[in-house]
Amino acid sequence: VSVSTAGAETSVGRSVAELETPALTIDLDRLGANIARAADYAADHGLGLYPHAKTHKTLEIAALQRQAGARGLTVAKSREAEIYAEAGLGPILVHYPPVGPPKVERLVRVAAIAPLTLAVDSIEAAEPLAAGLRGAGVEAEALIEVDVGLHRTGLDPARAVDLARQIEGLGGGLRVAGLSCYPGHLRGPRDEVAPGVEAVSDLLGDAIARFDAAGIRRDRVSGGSTATLFLSHLTPMTELRPGNYALLDRAEAVDPFSVDDCALRVQATVVSRSVPGRAVLDCGSKTLSEAGPRAGLAGYGAAPARPELEIEALNEEHAICRVDAGSALTVGDRVEVIPNHACTCVNLHDSLWAVRGGVVEGEMRVVARGAVG
Ligand SMILES: Cc1ncc(COP(=O)(O)O)c(C=O)c1O
Repeated sequence: VSVSTAGAETSVGRSVAELETPALTIDLDRLGANIARAADYAADHGLGLYPHAKTHKTLEIAALQRQAGARGLTVAKSREAEIYAEAGLGPILVHYPPVGPPKVERLVRVAAIAPLTLAVDSIEAAEPLAAGLRGAGVEAEALIEVDVGLHRTGLDPARAVDLARQIEGLGGGLRVAGLSCYPGHLRGPRDEVAPGVEAVSDLLGDAIARFDAAGIRRDRVSGGSTATLFLSHLTPMTELRPGNYALLDRAEAVDPFSVDDCALRVQATVVSRSVPGRAVLDCGSKTLSEAGPRAGLAGYGAAPARPELEIEALNEEHAICRVDAGSALTVGDRVEVIPNHACTCVNLHDSLWAVRGGVVEGEMRVVARGAVG
């Protein structure tokens, strides 16, 4: 991976153990394996991959995903769309309702420089987008979002086809290309999510039949989360948007993934051992984020090499850990932590250190951090 060494001269070539803490590291071998595994799966099954860039928010990892065969990138926000399109990393799929004139104007500019797809679930969002695109003489494809169980955004199949018809009647700018969904309610090991994936397939099948009956184009069916990624070929999905899979985290480290696949690590230091039975690390909520554990786990992160330690509570600067009696942990010791949630953790940092074999190779700037518009 080509990573910037600008401003990082003092750390490049050094051991991870020498990085000032707290620091975020990305193991390039793990990252590469995660990206390749999903890319191979998608290629084997003829599925288009549009990785969600929200997880890493960097140009370097997005470029690796595209080089591995991803057809494009998914983003949530119009500012993110602009950043990745300007970097030449499109096509771009915006999978979040873009509401309000500044976002419409930005997306019209994006459509002029990269193939653009917009997932929509309301005519109120779609109409100004279509008008803006049409007025600028550009086009974007629209995917009508179906709610497959998360109950966050998306329509039931009958309303989805109604919206598709309404968009077709707008006179251009937005062209309906199919459907999308986000099965984010399905989390856990592969065998536990499998029945839910079948239910998602049934709902998508219903929506597809309605699109066919109405004569509306639906050759793109977008879906796919990290937890359901390797079951996607059993669904009508034609393209996938996993995000977390590239870095992985403690929440997603269940079959078919494991803790060892987690490319993102937080490098921390023990800063206090004053309270009996406790240790304090320098990776509080400003570093790890406040993301709690998934069901069945405890604590605010895992420290696989320090099984005697559990991160029980977070203050902004302090990770307050329970440690077994007799632990030899002492002030100044280094601890490597796997965060509960990669996306929220990365979002708190300006840069990630790219590491291979325990040696720092470069720095990746979290360029899309703060791009919330
Ligand atoms: C709409 C949408 N698609 C795809 C993803 C990626 O999901 P995951 O991180 O589970 O792979 C997300 C994540 O929040 C999302 O909101």
